[in-house]
Amino acid sequence: MSQPKVTVLHGPNLNLLGVRQPDVYGYETLDDVNNALREKALMAGWAINCFQSNHEGELIDTIHAARLDGTLAIIINPAAYTHTSVAILDALNAFEGKVIEVHISNVHKRESFRHHSYVSLRADGVIAGLGTQGYQVALDAIIESDG
Ligand code: DQA
Repeated sequence: MSQPKVTVLHGPNLNLLGVRQPDVYGYETLDDVNNALREKALMAGWAINCFQSNHEGELIDTIHAARLDGTLAIIINPAAYTHTSVAILDALNAFEGKVIEVHISNVHKRESFRHHSYVSLRADGVIAGLGTQGYQVALDAIIESDG
């Protein structure tokens, strides 16, 4: 059997993780997050593709690629696109695998415009407020349920 695959998508401004509003998002960098996820995936025998973009279309293209290459699950922190992007929702709706939405901060404790998520209309699971550990929890859930 070929190796199961998971894609991790990070939306706009998450390239600044560790330096941007550390009181909200913590001090871990995006590389720290991705390296920890790669290590966990490797140990479990999964292939992992981690991708960050500040551009909506690039995130959508990566979702389309995951749809075609046999990826079993997507972990996505759409960042600000969470609250605005019908296009990302539509792309995820065309993906047949599992989708887990992750937010580092507890968006429900913050401004009201962060309380609505288009992506939650598609997500199989939503994790918010666990800091960067939320990504690890999402990957554990995927590995344990075998996709
Ligand atoms: C975020 C929450 C969003 O509201 C915000 O725009 C982000 C990050 C989070 O991880 O907590 O950029 O998705």
